[in-house]
Amino acid sequence: MPTLTKERFGTTTDGQDVDRFTLQNKNGMVTKLISYGAGVSELWVRDKNGKPVNVVLGFDTVQPYETRPTPYFGCTVGRYANRIAEAKFSHGGKEYQLNANDGSHTLHGGLNGLSHRVWKSELLPGDSGVRFQISSPDGDEGFPGNLAVSVTFSLTDENELCIDYVATTDQTTPVNLTNHCYFNLEGAGNGTVHDHTVQINAESFIPVNSAYVPTGEIGAVKETPMDFNQPKRIGQDFNKVPGGYDHTYVLRTKPGELTEAARVSAPGSGISLCMLTTEPGVQLYTSNFLDGTITGIGGVYKKHGALCLEAQHFPDSVHHNHFPNVLLEPDETYKQTTVYRFDLL
Ligand code: GLA
Repeated sequence: MPTLTKERFGTTTDGQDVDRFTLQNKNGMVTKLISYGAGVSELWVRDKNGKPVNVVLGFDTVQPYETRPTPYFGCTVGRYANRIAEAKFSHGGKEYQLNANDGSHTLHGGLNGLSHRVWKSELLPGDSGVRFQISSPDGDEGFPGNLAVSVTFSLTDENELCIDYVATTDQTTPVNLTNHCYFNLEGAGNGTVHDHTVQINAESFIPVNSAYVPTGEIGAVKETPMDFNQPKRIGQDFNKVPGGYDHTYVLRTKPGELTEAARVSAPGSGISLCMLTTEPGVQLYTSNFLDGTITGIGGVYKKHGALCLEAQHFPDSVHHNHFPNVLLEPDETYKQTTVYRFDLL
């Protein structure tokens, strides 16, 4: 049985209390979850020598999580992960103006997205996990509808961190939630991920323009630096991808079916990560915007010091009818399950 403890993590600059939960399984895998941004602040996994290694970037105080611009370490991102072009969309003959926070575009839900709120929390029966809940009011960051979101984290004895999302609305609205963990399987703050091996089950990806907004094409990965169908050292083709990887891969998943999306492993620690999701896409982001100015748990967070595997629908889907639908209707329930499973090579 897992064990779960709750403590006061700190207080936001506007005086809200933030809690931290420590969840441990029988193998000694430990995750720390915080109610600010419904996030994962630490994730300790045993390496090939049995030594615990913290494999995610994060902080041990509240304040650095509140900064803007933010790297979104470990948090739940919403209402809409990634970009919505020109911070607007139309539905039912009405145009909705959103808050722009990435040039003229909306990134990760806007200026004050769900990643920058204190969520309500409750312990799951049997101390198997933590459920975070938030109500996002009609008009929040410009999005229509009162949106109720819950994100549940649990830890299994098979060394899986499971994340289950549920959302409902009272008006049609786009929803695209994700978790933004930055993984370094050699340990947070321990160099770059250039030597990590990555494999992604995707034959295509979503090409973007220089502002990281989709062009609308679906690109084939075959015989390009984007191809990770066979396990590949991530540093191998870095110099052929301007800026580094920051792209959505189109997964071979059936809608709503939990399917293996990606695998990552690190040669030094011997830790490997398998990601499964019900989502149609995964964003591979190689911490291209980190520049060594942030110090967190484990040390200095360098450029390419981690990689994110963000389960999600495609960016800017509200402007591309051929992308899978992201509009949630009042009589529907948004559901997503994503699992990060840890093993040794
Ligand atoms: C996502 C985006 C990146 C960047 C990071 C946060 O992964 O795709 O372009 O904005 O979030 O820094």
